[in-house]
Parts: sequence; C-alpha cells; structure tokens
Amino acid sequence: MRIYDLIQKKKNKIALSKEEITFFIDGIMSGKIKNYETSALLMAIAINGMNIDETYELTLAMAHSGDIVNFDNVKGVVVDKHSTGGVSDTTTLIVVPIVASLGVKFAKMSGGGLGFTGGTADKLQVFTGYNLNLTEEQFISTINSVGASIISQTKALAPADKILYELRNATGSVESIPLIASSIMSKKLASNAAVIVLDVKFGDGAFMKNLVQATILAKTMVEIGKRAGKKVSAILTDMSEPLGSGIGTNLEVKNAINVLQGKKNNLATVSKKLCEELLVLSGAYDVKTAKKAINDAIVSGNALLKFQEIIRAQGGDDQIITRLELMEKAKVVKSLIAKKDGFINQIKTKELGYIVRDMSKKKVNKIDNAAGIKLFVKSNSKVLAGDKLAEVYANSEVDALDAISRLEGTLIIKNIKKSKGKLIQAIIR
Ligand code: URA
Repeated sequence: MRIYDLIQKKKNKIALSKEEITFFIDGIMSGKIKNYETSALLMAIAINGMNIDETYELTLAMAHSGDIVNFDNVKGVVVDKHSTGGVSDTTTLIVVPIVASLGVKFAKMSGGGLGFTGGTADKLQVFTGYNLNLTEEQFISTINSVGASIISQTKALAPADKILYELRNATGSVESIPLIASSIMSKKLASNAAVIVLDVKFGDGAFMKNLVQATILAKTMVEIGKRAGKKVSAILTDMSEPLGSGIGTNLEVKNAINVLQGKKNNLATVSKKLCEELLVLSGAYDVKTAKKAINDAIVSGNALLKFQEIIRAQGGDDQIITRLELMEKAKVVKSLIAKKDGFINQIKTKELGYIVRDMSKKKVNKIDNAAGIKLFVKSNSKVLAGDKLAEVYANSEVDALDAISRLEGTLIIKNIKKSKGKLIQAIIR
C-alpha cells in the first residue's frame, strides 16, 4: 500500500477502506508517512469529505494509536461529557459535581483553551495546588473514592490526533466535519467512559457557525459513539452570546460556583440538561427523577460540597469556593458605557473570547486568572445611554484601555430587537 494512492483516491472522491485508514494512522505513528503526505491527505479529506464508515474507522484507528483507559476497577457506570468549545462555557465545573453527588461516577479529561475558547484545565489552576496530572491509577482511585476526577488529557491519549491536529492547524484543514468528529471522538473513545454526552455549540462564539453544520457534526459524533458501543447523546446549544456573564478564568469559576449555589441563568439551564442526559443514559434515573435529583443536589448544597471534595482530593485549595472574595483581583477595572439608547442587537462573541485570551496571556508562561470581561447585558437587553454595558478587569492601565477600545465594537446597539432562537435547539440520540 502507498500513501500516494490514498491521496489520489481521496482527491478523486473515492472512499478509503478500513485497511487503508489503518495503514494511514499506523504510518503517521511510525513516522513512515511524512508530514507533507499527511497534510495532502488531510486537505483532500477537508475538501471531499468522508462517509460515516470512513469517519468511524478513522476515529477508531486514532483512538487506538495510544492508551485506552481501563475502568475495570471502577464499580458502576462511568460517564463523561464534552463541549465542542465556546465562550464562557464553564459547564464541566457544574456538571461533574452535580452528577457525582448523585452517585454516578464521572471520569473527565479536559484540555486547555483553543483559539477564542477557554479550557477547563486552565480554570482548575485557580485552586492552588490542584493536580491535573494524575497517573491512570490515581485517576481511577480518585473516581472510586470521591466519585469523580478531572485531569488533563494525557499525552498517551489518542496521540495520532495531536499529530493530525497540528498539521490541520498549519494547513487550513481544521474546519472539516469528519476531521473534527474523529478528533473529538477518538479522545472520547480512548477516555473510554460507557456514557458520553456531547454539547455541540453553534453561533458566532463556536467553531460551527450555524445550526445545520452543528447538527451534522452532532449526528456524526453520536453515530460514531454508538457504533463503538457507547451510550451517547448530543445537545445542540446556542453560542451566539457567551453562556455566562463573565469571560476569563476567575469570572468563569465564580459563575460556576454561583450556579452550584442555586443561581438560575443560561449556564444553569445548559448544565442541568447535560446532567439530565448523563443521569438518564447511566441507567440510574429516568427523566423525571433526574430533573428532581439535579435540583435537590443544588438546593441541599450537596453538589457544592462535592465540588469542594473533588478539588481537595486532587490537592487543590478549596477555600475560594466558599469565600469568593479570596480570588486574586485585577489591578485595573474599567467600565464600558452605552453611548445611545436601544437594544443589544448583536454580541460579537468570538471577539470577546479573543479579547480575554489576549489579556490573559500577558503574564509570562502563565494565564492571568484575574483578567476578564463581565457583561451586564445579554442579547436583546434594553439599554439607555449612560448604562454600564460591561466591565474590563486587567492588570495594567494599557491593557484595560486596549480591551475597552476593542470591546466597543462587540456590543452592537440598534433600535430593534433581533429574533432569537432557543438556547437548547435539539437533542440528538
Ligand atoms: N476540538 C477538538 O478536539 N478537535 C477538533 O478538531 C476541533 C475541536
């Protein structure tokens, strides 16, 4: 078999066989297939697509390019969730403790931020001492003793994805549904939970810009999961505005804690739906009992206690969970004020993500946890000239001014409201 022939086939829109896909992944792992050959094949896939059989075989081959986590020593069903990435998307910090407090085991491997989206691994650094790098043995024993563990994705997890992702990033072939689906699902299959619930985002602050694309991606990933023997579902959620009011590490952690304390908002709605799907697919609850259990877990304070337990179990300082005032504060706070009356007609969510990313990266080799933007308006909010629209938290005057000037263009005020879709558009099972 020659990689040259595989590239020719895909260039001519011919489907690749299981053997050819396995040959491709084995070849990139052994180094026999060179980066320029891989890039050419990735580009041909990005242009001509892959059918579901090819996408499944690619996912499986990528998942098996490294270790598969072994949960034989965990009692009960193990569940996992994944978001395709958004702005102020902090659902993991809410969903994991709620579900674990209800007796369902949660094994979560998280990544850092990607582009304009934040990552859970970065947010957990807020809890001084929190160890994201447990061995598999420690991961399993924490899940057994606490009911949940959140760690960084290990290097041994689907290493083929790392190679492919870097080449896609360098050659403009990231935005391809079969490549995104296989990238995400290879890591989920290697993480090996029996239940996987996906949050597929669409809109300006997501990688999928519209509902049609997001639906195809969700259906592809659900089908891959099912073929691999997993219980899997996907919810399709709107990301045309940030999910929470705060964007930036500390603000997002605060938003998550507020939901665990009972706050009701969009972040709470999406998180509760994810919990419901996970609990039902785990087999331990039906829809009615799941909804009630989720609310009880919050109202009783058990979910918040479980969050503290999870943080402490991995060496983190959990004091800030009950004393939010202890969080590191930004040196400079500046407000963005409305210049005219009207309604918030558009929020440029992706740009908000980039502004915060740029502010957060000012510290050498470290994310600035205190940097961020707090929004006082949502899509369609009525505003009057002089109202505060947002606050910028920065660590220097220059950064704050720069962020404010960029922020001006992200909250568009018009004298008409826009038509708004539902927050949760659909569930694919
Ligand atoms: N997240 C991933 O893990 N992979 C992609 O290709 C896109 C988003």
